[in-house]
Amino acid sequence: MPEPTPSNLIPVNIDGRDIAVPKGTNLIEAAARLGIEIPHFCYHPKLSVAGNCRMCLVEMGTPAVDPTTKQPVLDPATGKQRVNWMPKPQIACFTNATPGLHIRTTTPQIKECREGVMEFLLINHPLDCPICDQAGECKLQEQATDYGRGYSRFVETKNVKPKRTQLGPRVTLDDERCILCSRCVRFCKEIAKDDVLGFVDRGSYSTLTCFPGRQLENNYSLNTVDICPVGALTSTDFRFKMRVWFLKTTPSICPESSVGANTELWSREGVIHRITPRRNDEVNDTWMADSGRLLYKRVTAANRLLEPSVDGKPATLAEAIKAAVEVLVGAETGNRKPGNSELGTGNAGAVASANRKAAIENRKLTTVAVVASGRQSVEEQFLTRKLAAVVGAVGTWIVGRVGPGDGLLISADRNPNVRGALVTGLIKEYPQPQLAELGAAISAGKVKTVIGFGENLAEAGLTPAQLGKVTLIEVGTHLTPASAVARVLIPSLTVFEKAGSFINQQFRVQKFYAAVPGPQGATDDLLLLAQLIEGCGNGTPPRSVEEVWSELAPQVPALAGLTWAAIPPTGKLIDGAAWADLPFVEGATLHFKPAAPVGVRDVTNIK
Ligand code: SF4
Ligand code: FES
Repeated sequence: MPEPTPSNLIPVNIDGRDIAVPKGTNLIEAAARLGIEIPHFCYHPKLSVAGNCRMCLVEMGTPAVDPTTKQPVLDPATGKQRVNWMPKPQIACFTNATPGLHIRTTTPQIKECREGVMEFLLINHPLDCPICDQAGECKLQEQATDYGRGYSRFVETKNVKPKRTQLGPRVTLDDERCILCSRCVRFCKEIAKDDVLGFVDRGSYSTLTCFPGRQLENNYSLNTVDICPVGALTSTDFRFKMRVWFLKTTPSICPESSVGANTELWSREGVIHRITPRRNDEVNDTWMADSGRLLYKRVTAANRLLEPSVDGKPATLAEAIKAAVEVLVGAETGNRKPGNSELGTGNAGAVASANRKAAIENRKLTTVAVVASGRQSVEEQFLTRKLAAVVGAVGTWIVGRVGPGDGLLISADRNPNVRGALVTGLIKEYPQPQLAELGAAISAGKVKTVIGFGENLAEAGLTPAQLGKVTLIEVGTHLTPASAVARVLIPSLTVFEKAGSFINQQFRVQKFYAAVPGPQGATDDLLLLAQLIEGCGNGTPPRSVEEVWSELAPQVPALAGLTWAAIPPTGKLIDGAAWADLPFVEGATLHFKPAAPVGVRDVTNIK
């Protein structure tokens, strides 16, 4: 008999091994806990059970009980309770663990069942593995190898079904390869709430298609490609671009909104080829939005900022940083020209540095404004706050970004890291979408210098007249309308080219890593911030994420005791109670419920 277990655990026996699993655990999942694979196609942990592929057949038995006495019937040979085995195999995906349930997954009967199922599935499946885009991640191919008969008895003619059908703007269907598992149908109906797919015709002629007059065009359509176990559904953007075994994966976070969907970046030799979801049952399950998958194209966008410049002329990074420091240090008069530098080396440099620090500390009228960003990482926001303090900034703003939430994985707050700005103390108030307050301060002559990090200042409400009144230092990844009037332009890295963390709407700190190196000419934001702080005469600040965390954790109460290394791959929840009264804009999403529900779930209209 199995060992006694706590009441919420159910004892089962799989292939002769006892295990206690939480109530409600499906047998495929229970076996996986023992490292036993029950092959399956139609089962998906985040969808309803269809039970139509029959690949997960197992032998099943229940403990024998005397119908009269209700007492266990013992086997006289072993003294253990006898097991009544069912005469026919059962599907594991549709069975949850019940007390004392026994299953067998490796018997000759099960081997024969699996070979039979594979034979049926392959009857009409084309033999186009060498040219199929799913090669390398095809469940049918893998399970044919592991559980198939190894030879074909099929002599008839295979079905001909539609090929290269555009189901929608991003998904291509090869119907001949479809094994009718219905995962894609269930996903659209149950998760995307866009019931657009279905089967027509019967038997061997069953064909997946969209409902008449409809397209698979919701903003979650590419999740069907992820879960399709064969090469029937493929991403129109990715198909035939790269074999998956050439790609390496890097964990990342979708920067599209404050949901912070966990993602995987697939890259080769410095080029990102696709983005797919990374499973996190507390945030995004196994899903992500289509729009987030295409963001990697910004890495090579035509308007990527690639060269530092000073006064509109190309400059080296060192020259640009030097010019920026001079502007920041001389900001109280606004008339310091780059080139009249006090920067130097050795003792002269140290004296100059001390002089700059003293000048800033003694300044009567502070005139620098910092426009930070809700797209910066926690680490960058921490150093930006330091920079603002060092230059005695008159204020620090971030630009609020609000759009319709879809109730699933795109929230109304389209910044990934407003919580980070609050937690690090970079800002105290909830950000406004427009920089009206800063604009007024510029118009009133109270701000003479603006340093902006990754924001489009024109779009954020600063008028050409206001931009023309200030000395502008712009740090960013792409050119903006304001770039043309910036005194100093410094290229930085996208989220795909650097490491850091965001704090999502749940106050969950989540890490992302660099998948590809930044382009020549662009510099890491942390290094840049550290150089600016150092240039302004404030010691030697940390330059890597690990170094920043060793300084940040002791100084930021909500992150006390946390280290970069200790943040798990699925993130770490922190206490956000201190900010509970702020007017956060998010409505309910997949694993998030705001205190006061707002927002409407409608993914079908978001393309
Ligand atoms: S297209 Fe793929 S996911 Fe959809 S039913 Fe066919 S095999 Fe399953
Ligand atoms: S996984 Fe398809 S029937 Fe169980």
